[in-house]
Formats: sequence, structure tokens, C-alpha cells
Amino acid sequence: MTVPYQTYQFEYPERLRCAFIGAGGHSYRNVYPAFQYAPVELVAVCDVELDRARTYARSFGAPAAYDDHRQMLAAEQPDAVFIVTSYTDDGDVQATALAQDCLRAGAHVWMEKPTAAGLAQLDRLQAVADETGRTVMTGLKKIFTPAMEKVKSILRTPEFGTASSISVRYPQSLPAPDLRSDDVKMIGFLDHIFHPGAILTHLMGPVRRLSYEWEPRTGASVSSLLFESGAVGTLHLASGSATGAPLERVEVVGDGANVVVDNGVRITYYRAGAELPYGRAASFVTDDAVAPLRWEPEFSLGQLYNKNLFYLGYVPEVVYFCERLLAGKPIEKGTLADVREILKLYELYRRLPAGDSVQPAQRLGDR
Ligand SMILES: NC(=O)c1ccc[n+]([C@@H]2O[C@H](COP(=O)([O-])OP(=O)(O)OC[C@H]3O[C@@H](n4cnc5c(N)ncnc54)[C@H](O)[C@@H]3O)[C@@H](O)[C@H]2O)c1
Repeated sequence: MTVPYQTYQFEYPERLRCAFIGAGGHSYRNVYPAFQYAPVELVAVCDVELDRARTYARSFGAPAAYDDHRQMLAAEQPDAVFIVTSYTDDGDVQATALAQDCLRAGAHVWMEKPTAAGLAQLDRLQAVADETGRTVMTGLKKIFTPAMEKVKSILRTPEFGTASSISVRYPQSLPAPDLRSDDVKMIGFLDHIFHPGAILTHLMGPVRRLSYEWEPRTGASVSSLLFESGAVGTLHLASGSATGAPLERVEVVGDGANVVVDNGVRITYYRAGAELPYGRAASFVTDDAVAPLRWEPEFSLGQLYNKNLFYLGYVPEVVYFCERLLAGKPIEKGTLADVREILKLYELYRRLPAGDSVQPAQRLGDR
């Protein structure tokens, strides 16, 4: 694995003609700025609030602004559209229908998570993608972080062995059982299950069985998972954690080896092969060839890897989408199939009482 060499936007010999729907908070902080490092020619910005669309167009170098996405699609005929919108008043995901309009206009789509508010809505989006032959990628930023890319590459090595178990910690409250059929009350959970859900299913594959226990004051939960691969795992949704404390911890165990990611940027790989005979090892210092490996960024230099745009996965996910399309290669990360695995988990949490166990395929139909 070599360190990726980052090209700046103006250095790319070829760029994708892109339009953008949504001029909100997250996109201002994290998606438009990622274009500085991606082969993007931003041709237009659309927001229902035209002033915002105009301001963003000026700030991020687009020549045109619209308040109606259909007008924009017809006038600009973009190769691809980035969609970063929000929720309808009844808790649906605005971007799901917008994405279908973009596909029908002949554009590929990059959209923020959540892709859809459920499997039925995802089915409709998938049908339009199939019918139009256009691609939809969801920004599953967690699987594009340098740390998670490294974990995935470690999992592929024979030295690590087959992944046998995983634990993921992420603070998120699961609403009370009587609120889980309410789409509006479930927005927060839907919004965030995409992050740990993407990590679990990207590293370990589909989930075969799940059960969980739930704590009513905070909505915290601990889930026990069995993956199709035969590996097992836990998902600790640690609602009640202190604001400002690191949110995440991920550990994957292989066969005599394990890897831990703390706070998204500190990776420790405990390699196989160390010998510390019990009762006789007088030092914990193992041979260099099997010693643990540790990576974490320095936060002193004006390097790209120090920007959250990079270590949180935003630039990598946007660059991946654009470069793959320009090269005529398929999108293989953040696909609608990846999203389906996450939404299966979401629907299980909505329907499954604490303490029960269910196999996603049993309850939801083998999709
Ligand atoms: N991956 C991440 O790290 C991360 C972080 C924060 C938010 N998000 C996601 O980003 C999305 C946006 O979040 P936000 O906090 O920026 O929301 P926001 O409400 O600030 O922005 C949404 C914008 O979309 C516009 N919009 C809505 N419908 C539109 C339409 N039909 N046409 C044109 N514009 C329309 C709104 O006017 C608004 O300006 C959500 O899906 C959220 O889950 C992701």
C-alpha cells in the first residue's frame, strides 16, 4: 500500500461536468470543499432557496444557480449530480426522489447518506438506476477513511488470518419501541446507523443474525451479530457518552492477530507471531519482525492528511466516484447493494424487540 499522491483540481487533465443539489451546512463544510482535490468542473448549484444557491455558486466557482433541479438538469445536462439535501416533513429522505430525477435526466449520482428511508424506497431507486443504466454512489465516508482502508487491507493478508470477530462502538440513541414506526422520530437513528453499519458490513460482509439489549434512559444498545462468513461481532451504540469524547472505536480480530482503530485516526496492528511464554517471559518487548505497528497523524504540518476532508474520508469518496466514472470503471464502494445491507439492519432495529433474535432474510424477505 503506497501513500496516495493527491492531484489538485486544476491539475486534472480531464474533469467531470457536475451539478450540485443542496446548499446546506454539511455540503458547505465538507463536500464542495472536497472538489478542490477532485476532477470536477462544477457547472451549476441548485437550492430551493435561490440566494443560497447563488452564494454557493459564487463561492465554489459554478457559473449558474437554480432553484428548480429539473430546470437545472434540462439546461445543464451534467455528467453527474451531487445531492446533499435533507428530510421531508414526514421523515422521508429528500435525496431519494431527487436522485431518480437525475438518473432519468441521464446523469450519474453521488448522494450523501442516508440514501433512502427504507428498503422499499431503495428498491424504487434501484429500479430507476437499472432502467437508465446510470450509477448511484452513496458517500459512505467511513469506508473511505485512510484508517479503514488500512484495516481492510490488513484483513486481506494471510498473516492476519480470516477475520473472526469485530467490535464497533459508536454513540447513537435508539428510540423507544413505540416510536420506531414513526419515520420522523427515527430520523436521527437512520442518519447515523449508516456510519457503524458501513464499517461492519464493509469489513465483515452481510449480517446473518442479530439480537440486542436496549437501555431506556439513554437509548443505548448493545447488539450481538453473526455474519454470513461465520464471524461474530458486537455493535455498541453508546448513547450517553460525553460530548467531545472520541466517538468511535473499531477492533477486528483475525487468527492470532488483531487491529484497533481509535478515534478514527489511531491504528494499532498487533501482529501475529510474538512469543511470550507464560510465566517465563521476562520482557514484553517482542522482536521487531512481529512487534505491533502504530500509525497516527502528526498535527503540525500543513499536510493534506491533517485535514478532516481527508482523514474523515470526504475527499477520497468524491475522488473515487469521479475517477471511476472518468475511467469508465464500475463503482464498487458505496453501491446500492452496500446500502441495502445497512438498511436491512435499520429495518431490523425498527421491528425487532430487544432480547429477540432474527435473521435479516427471515423477517425482511430474501432481498
Ligand atoms: N457524512 C457526513 O459526515 C454527514 C454529516 C452531516 C450531514 N450529512 C448528511 O448531509 C445531508 C444534509 O445535511 P445538512 O445538515 O447539510 O442539511 P441542510 O438542511 O443544512 O441542507 C440541505 C439543503 O438542501 C436544500 N434542499 C432541500 N430540498 C431541495 C430540493 N428539492 N432542491 C434543491 N435544494 C433542496 C435545502 O434548502 C438546504 O439548503 C443529510 O443527508 C445528512 O445526513 C452527512
